[in-house]
Amino acid sequence: MVTTTTPPGGPAAPSSELAAALYTGIRLERTAPPCILVIFGASGDLTRRKLMPALYSLMRAQRLAPSFAVVGISNTEWDRDQFAEEMRKAVHELSGIPVEDESWQAFAGRLRYLSSTFDDAGLYERLKRELASLAPDCGYNLIFYCATPPSLFTVITAQLARAGLNHPLDGAPATAWARIIIEKPFGRDLKSAQQLNREVHQAFEESQVYRIDHYLGKETVRNILVFRFANGIFEPIWNRRYVDHVQITVAESIGVEQRGRYYEEAGTLRDMIQNHLLQVLAIVAMEAPVRFESEPVRDEKLKLLKSVCGLGTGAEAMAKAVRGQYGPGLVHGQPVAGYRSEPDVSPSSTRETFAALKLTIENWRWAGVPFYLRSGKRLPKRVSEVAIIFKSPPYLMFGAEARFEPNTLVIRIQPDEGIALRFEAKIPGAEVRLRPVDMDFHYGSSFGEAQPEAYETLLQDAMLGETMLFARYDFVETAWSLTTPLLEAWQAQPAKNFPNYAAGSWGPAEADEFLARDGREWRRP
Ligand code: BG6
Repeated sequence: MVTTTTPPGGPAAPSSELAAALYTGIRLERTAPPCILVIFGASGDLTRRKLMPALYSLMRAQRLAPSFAVVGISNTEWDRDQFAEEMRKAVHELSGIPVEDESWQAFAGRLRYLSSTFDDAGLYERLKRELASLAPDCGYNLIFYCATPPSLFTVITAQLARAGLNHPLDGAPATAWARIIIEKPFGRDLKSAQQLNREVHQAFEESQVYRIDHYLGKETVRNILVFRFANGIFEPIWNRRYVDHVQITVAESIGVEQRGRYYEEAGTLRDMIQNHLLQVLAIVAMEAPVRFESEPVRDEKLKLLKSVCGLGTGAEAMAKAVRGQYGPGLVHGQPVAGYRSEPDVSPSSTRETFAALKLTIENWRWAGVPFYLRSGKRLPKRVSEVAIIFKSPPYLMFGAEARFEPNTLVIRIQPDEGIALRFEAKIPGAEVRLRPVDMDFHYGSSFGEAQPEAYETLLQDAMLGETMLFARYDFVETAWSLTTPLLEAWQAQPAKNFPNYAAGSWGPAEADEFLARDGREWRRP
């Protein structure tokens, strides 16, 4: 929980540490309760890049209970010291967090390691013994984290249940709990997601399951609800009477890097749109929840997603979307390879690395307002934003020749996190000439402190039992029910014109034509 206060005398620039604290707001930092976190996939990329840096940061900020423990499990043959050393290297090299000897020693002292494959029933007996020996010191609360390829999720949940680890350990106090965090991708279409939910639910109750979508942990995404519902002036215009359309963009300048094998299976629709972009859409468009609590918020998001009009099937679905694949090109002035030349990618791959689609929402607030979603790799820059484009004034009295841009509210998710409102202003001078200008809020300069990484927020929330920032089973299934018909249509008719955009461009020309057909154009963030 963060409580903000306005310093006496208004938000003047801070002159002392105390004033600085008041300026940014007094933080009542939360501390996670004691628990043992078990990471399946402890030698993998996610653990190195995200989980260990997040845990180390949380510990340094005293946001973990002092008695926490982490048990890493993977099939890499390490002992505990090797594991700790590898994790130290990872935190140092991959996260940019300074690793200090003293705090690292304290952190490393909390690490344990077991080497095994995940289908070995013996592993779970060893794990149980390890947990039982740690629990008297570290507490009886358990979190299992599946940081593995998706094919292993249900292997792990079934084995945990078989070993009785879907419940707190014997002898645990009545308040103890066992939870499981599952990484994305959660399924690869509607059927597989439903099957996965069924199998996970055979081992764990829904209330124990925390499905990760790291976009929900981003401060700027969390701020959308505050922006919408803690301010009185936006709600009256947040609807079809004032909004012309909405664009949600998640652009990346990186390619598929070393993840060619995964990407060949996934593609942008599965990798980005089905989860991150639909989550953002739901938060932007949902109704106010009855209370700011997990279930009311998740209920409203689900209700919104259920009101999104289905894409139809086959040609009908394809007409509401555009796909693309990058060829060679220049990104940030450097020549880069096309997707088909990336490691582990087929030279004739028809997998999409760009997707754009148009969704409409059938409810009173949004009927007739298109939501355009787009995401792609090897675009000119890394930028994620939501742009609300408002309707133009009904009559323009400044002459037909006046250059004119509609009012636009841009929520910048990353980088340069902030919110800008674009409106027309008169260019100083005798004549009346217009130019758009921005009112711009920047997180960095307004709060003057770094934002927590999404994984820090999410890990701590899971420890605290706060589920608001995790994807509920029904949201995930609804998101798949929206995207699966398009996946199937694309699969049935592989693209013949790939690659259709040069790395470093804003995607295929078809994406521009797609909006031009509606008399609109994409913003260039
Ligand atoms: C992941 C996708 O979920 O999100 C990646 O699998 C993508 O392909 C990443 O690069 C983007 O996350 P962020 O936080 O860098 O926008």
